[in-house]
Amino acid sequence: MRIIRRLLIWGVPAVLILGVIAGVIGWRIYEGARASNVGSLTFSNPLYVPPLLEPASDAQGRKVFDLTLEAGQTELIEGELTPTWGINGSHLSPVLRASRGDEVLINVHNGLDGESTTLHWHGMDLPALMDGGPHQLIRPGETWPATWTINQQAASLWFHPHPHGSTTDHVYRGIVGMFIIDDEDSKSLPIPRQYGVDDVPLIVQDKAFNDDGSLRKRRPPFASLGPLGDEILVNGTHDPYFEVRTTLVRFRLLNGSPARTYSFGFTDGRSFSVIASDSGLLESPVETDRVQLSPGERAEIVVSFTPGDEATLHSFGADLGQDFFTERLNGADDTFDILQIRASQQLDESSPLPEQLVSWTAPDAGEAVATRSFRLSGSSINGQRMDLTRVDEVVRAGSTEIWEVSTGGPHTFHIHLVRFLVLDVDGEPPPPLLGGWKDSVQLQPGRSYRLLVRFADYADPTSPFMFHCHILEHEDSGMMGQFILVDEEDDAPRSLPDPYGDGQED
Ligand code: C2O
Ligand code: CU
Ligand code: CU
Repeated sequence: MRIIRRLLIWGVPAVLILGVIAGVIGWRIYEGARASNVGSLTFSNPLYVPPLLEPASDAQGRKVFDLTLEAGQTELIEGELTPTWGINGSHLSPVLRASRGDEVLINVHNGLDGESTTLHWHGMDLPALMDGGPHQLIRPGETWPATWTINQQAASLWFHPHPHGSTTDHVYRGIVGMFIIDDEDSKSLPIPRQYGVDDVPLIVQDKAFNDDGSLRKRRPPFASLGPLGDEILVNGTHDPYFEVRTTLVRFRLLNGSPARTYSFGFTDGRSFSVIASDSGLLESPVETDRVQLSPGERAEIVVSFTPGDEATLHSFGADLGQDFFTERLNGADDTFDILQIRASQQLDESSPLPEQLVSWTAPDAGEAVATRSFRLSGSSINGQRMDLTRVDEVVRAGSTEIWEVSTGGPHTFHIHLVRFLVLDVDGEPPPPLLGGWKDSVQLQPGRSYRLLVRFADYADPTSPFMFHCHILEHEDSGMMGQFILVDEEDDAPRSLPDPYGDGQED
């Protein structure tokens, strides 16, 4: 009797609780499988290669680019029209290209109806006022002239909107472009550089669609990363293939997705050479069969082909650390095709990659004048959410610092303006693919990353630069902070104006 009563008292709730837990886990696994259900492709559409935008030149010898942000409709998925945004077109942007030493003037016209936005030059070394962060708001109908002198090594940079709280939305709708920087090294080294032929940008983005073709932000339940699409677009092309005519081809990979991390490789297991990370060429090519990129990160890879060869670029399960729930959604099970590359029967022989690409003397960590610690968790950094009027860090212009970053979950730490070297991860030297200059680094839960950060000499005590998580919804929800560059500590202001404070904003 007593035993039966006990069983009823404890057993029924236990069964209920277990049932709920099983249900939640089952749903997560089901959604995880759906998330990875990008699946295999048939490769029926030629890859779109965004054109290079030819600059004009003005009386001061500047390279002038005119960009118009506009809304339109694009056939992203066969037979469907999707309302999208783009630059000088309805989706994505032409590619900008300039060389070290060039002075550029970029007129960014906001042709979007009723929406203010900004355009941020991700990875660019420039004054804060030209950075295009959340403070450089461009209202509808306005034109923002951004001008600076290119002052950094060759790299594959990119640009995207950065309005406070709406970055995910504006990027997801399609305003993304690549900015290629050249320098003496990149122009003289024997590396593939014929744009669109053996030097090809690959902007990889996942999207989901509603039945009427409109974009959908598909958020699997309990997922904390943000939207994870079930279709992959490369340069806006769904189900793409690309034909190559040379034995070596360089691909500039950009993860332009709001949340998803990719682990790029080829289905036949072939290896390739990574020649550049976010902020430029590595000292020497690193041979590998996988390169993992979290949102905002870039890598340049060189792949070799034989006549008639076919290779499928694929994303293998990404390694995000050890968060079980996240891993179900965008982790070890998240594997799918991205692009098929077809080699002609006749290939032009490319020169072999040099063993050494560039050389630099890494700044001595002993030169660092300050060490700061950042912990990313919840929707905040060091317990604080983004506040446009608060100055979080004051940094001496032209200095080198050590930034120590750690996290409770999978995040990607990005710092505007700078380039940095990963000094160590949990005290150990970084893996070879993290051996070059970076502006964004993927963080794994529970690990600690020491970054050696070079700050350029653009003191401006009234205009901040951002640092934030590049998982876009994390940034939008407040995982961002601001630093200013000063010549003298006393120059530091206590608070900044809020450009959104005039009621004109949504
Ligand atoms: Cu692409 Cu503030 O970043
Ligand atoms: Cu940036
Ligand atoms: Cu994050």
